[in-house]
Amino acid sequence: MDNQQPIGIFDSGVGGLSVLRILEKKLPEENYIYFGDTARAPYGNRSQSEIRRFNLEIGKWLLSCGCKMLLVACHTSTVLGMDAIREETEVPVIGMMEAVLAGAFATDGEGDSPIGFIATSGTVRSGAYQKAFAEKAPERAFYAQDCPDFVPLVEQGIAEGPAVERSIEAYLTPMRDAGVRTLILGCTHYPFLQAAITSFLGPGVRVVDPADALADMVKAYLVAKSMRNEASGSEGGSRRFYCSGDTERFQIVGGLMLGRPIEEAGRRSF
Ligand code: DGL
Repeated sequence: MDNQQPIGIFDSGVGGLSVLRILEKKLPEENYIYFGDTARAPYGNRSQSEIRRFNLEIGKWLLSCGCKMLLVACHTSTVLGMDAIREETEVPVIGMMEAVLAGAFATDGEGDSPIGFIATSGTVRSGAYQKAFAEKAPERAFYAQDCPDFVPLVEQGIAEGPAVERSIEAYLTPMRDAGVRTLILGCTHYPFLQAAITSFLGPGVRVVDPADALADMVKAYLVAKSMRNEASGSEGGSRRFYCSGDTERFQIVGGLMLGRPIEEAGRRSF
């Protein structure tokens, strides 16, 4: 395996770009291939068997592109079927739940204040996070809430304004009233709404984007296995973008979310 081989990242759409933007800061020298399954988004209400099939299709394709590591930058895909990819390959496959448990979920200094967790309906329904948190911090109340309007808003390029504020109020008022002090963003689309969420909840609530912990995990792994790309020079590694739907739309919305233009995107459908 060559260290210059890319890291493959995927999500149902533009959400995983919230993970890529953090990776670009912490590991700029790596080469990345990003895939957004925009033709089949949202994933939030799909069955487990569909998600497993999508994971396999996308995972195998990314492996055929020569990826040295795969990042499942989608909580729904992670909890409903990441093992489907792991069974196919020796290449490391890292998902969002590991990131939440490794770092985003810091109990220190927060006493026994309740934890809020927001995600897609599929992730919340799976009960995977509820179970993991109950094992890790049984003494703390844990509120999980699905927010099905958030992903369609972000996929339309809408991250602020009245529609965003209305849905935030509807979903998060019960958590605010319950005294939640930590809110974990359990869907990779949600960090794009972080400013609006923080403004609704106020400064006393820590809003956690698990992408930070994921990037730290990836870095530690690459260092431990001597897999870091040291060949890309000061301008950083390459980025290639693909999606299964309209490429122009992906470039526009993805560029908006990423905060810089996506010059080119290829189409890959399954
Ligand atoms: N961004 C995804 C996640 O983290 C999925 C969103 C969706 O397509 O519903 O769960």
